[in-house]
Amino acid sequence: MKITVIRSAVIEAPIDRVWAVLRDFNSHNRWHPAVARSRMENDLDGDVVGGVRRLRLADGGELREQLLRHSDREHTYTYCILDSPLPLFDYVATVRLKPVTDGNQTFWDWRSQFSAPDDRADEMENLVGRQVYEAGFTGLRMFLAGQTAHPRTPGPDAATAVAVAVGGEHLPSKAVVVAAAGGPEVMSLCDVTVSAPGPRQVRIRQTAIAVNYLDLKHRRGIDPGLDLPGTPGMEGVGEIIDVGQQVNGLFSGDRVAYMSRTPGAYADIRCIDADACIPLPDGVSDIDASTLLKGVTAALLLSRVFRAAPGATILIQTVSGGVGHLLSQWAKSMDLTVIGTVSTTEKAKFSRDCGCDYPIVVADDTPLAAEVMRITNGRGVDYWIHSSGVHGFDTAVACLALCGHCAVIGDRDGQSIRLDVNVLKRRSLTLSVPVCFDYFDDRPYLQRLAHRLFAKIQSRMIVPAIEVFPLSQATEAHIRIESRQTMGAVVLTPGG
Ligand SMILES: NC(=O)c1ccc[n+]([C@@H]2O[C@H](COP(=O)([O-])OP(=O)(O)OC[C@H]3O[C@@H](n4cnc5c(N)ncnc54)[C@H](OP(=O)(O)O)[C@@H]3O)[C@@H](O)[C@H]2O)c1
Repeated sequence: MKITVIRSAVIEAPIDRVWAVLRDFNSHNRWHPAVARSRMENDLDGDVVGGVRRLRLADGGELREQLLRHSDREHTYTYCILDSPLPLFDYVATVRLKPVTDGNQTFWDWRSQFSAPDDRADEMENLVGRQVYEAGFTGLRMFLAGQTAHPRTPGPDAATAVAVAVGGEHLPSKAVVVAAAGGPEVMSLCDVTVSAPGPRQVRIRQTAIAVNYLDLKHRRGIDPGLDLPGTPGMEGVGEIIDVGQQVNGLFSGDRVAYMSRTPGAYADIRCIDADACIPLPDGVSDIDASTLLKGVTAALLLSRVFRAAPGATILIQTVSGGVGHLLSQWAKSMDLTVIGTVSTTEKAKFSRDCGCDYPIVVADDTPLAAEVMRITNGRGVDYWIHSSGVHGFDTAVACLALCGHCAVIGDRDGQSIRLDVNVLKRRSLTLSVPVCFDYFDDRPYLQRLAHRLFAKIQSRMIVPAIEVFPLSQATEAHIRIESRQTMGAVVLTPGG
């Protein structure tokens, strides 16, 4: 039975950059997660028609493929399988690139025809489409993001990297430990050892660790996400020391950022799921990259949660905060009118610099509703980003314009909002309670938003504002956040 498989993807890089990698028929081991090793027979170059490559797959299988046609002018090549452990017969595939109109993206078409036994046809079609082509698209995206930071001239292939991890020694490190739920004083810096990464993990020497509001709730014991005694922290940036078994596409020396549901980031060195890591491009510093969670949350709120049209009005509670100041800049870049709440005139000034058109200093709710209605000429706001919990929720609903949307992203007062949906029905309002981790279990989606964030940081359309504390002063950092003195994001740096 003849099977045709066609897959395509848009890669966020110009065609010359994508082709520079793909044109080498011997490059799969550097970017494809399923390929551990690649070598050309007879030492031929990877663009010689007739050349045969031998691939060792990550699962141990081997196959031989031959290059049949190769054109730099048309950005295409065609190849066939000579020997395979799988029943893929008469397999001929073509890779073809085309520039996307704006020139910064590339359209990649990957297609093949082959036959397979009837009882395995569906399995083979699925394997080629998903595990070869779609996994390849993701692998190349990751590679391109990481490659700019660390050109991988024939470096260690996956198999070598695995060998580094096997039997890797325990490394001394320091970690902040929350002994028992309580105030900032329950945190202390302890000596620990970090063992070699397990399967599908990498071990990272961290350079920047984000402090998120959730960490404070973990420390206080309000949110059950941290088992005590334990080390808080949901995200960090650093350099990979070594990788565990079954890790593809990541190498020691790679600079990566990660965010994870599993706490433990407040440390010099830690192990983390490879799946959580995103390679960092040039032009994004480690400190800036540690705003990953806050930045992709902003992107999520402005795209998938609710898409406000240009010219619409958004109100951001705590607009001078970590999420708030990024969200404000991002919203402004989408031509939204930004209203924000802050607690001091100093924060109002800071927020204006972050694109907030109307920062409102609020002491209580009563003047807030009146001020919002004054700014919007009585219409109300299209989109309200709510993080204060029950406190101020009625004001949020009252201030929404017809068909407006409220996204509840936090509950700072720790109380549950009770809602009569008829209140929403009266003006066709909608409400969401998004939790970023639930969306970002979809890793390709997270990668897309991360790349959008990094591109905005590279072009300085978004400039993160960051207060930096040594890891040893995590207590001071928490005190400063809890006393509402910080503006922008707060980051801890190990080694101090
Ligand atoms: N749902 C999600 O997926 C998601 C993801 C990320 C963050 N979040 C939520 O978004 C909110 C912002 O997160 P963030 O990490 O960027 O924090 P943040 O906004 O930087 O938090 C610090 C700021 O919160 C304000 N605040 C108000 N009441 C406070 C209190 N009782 N104690 C301390 N600070 C208080 C202060 O600003 P003012 O003085 O101006 O009030 C303070 O400067 C949090 O509620 C967080 O849980 C949700």
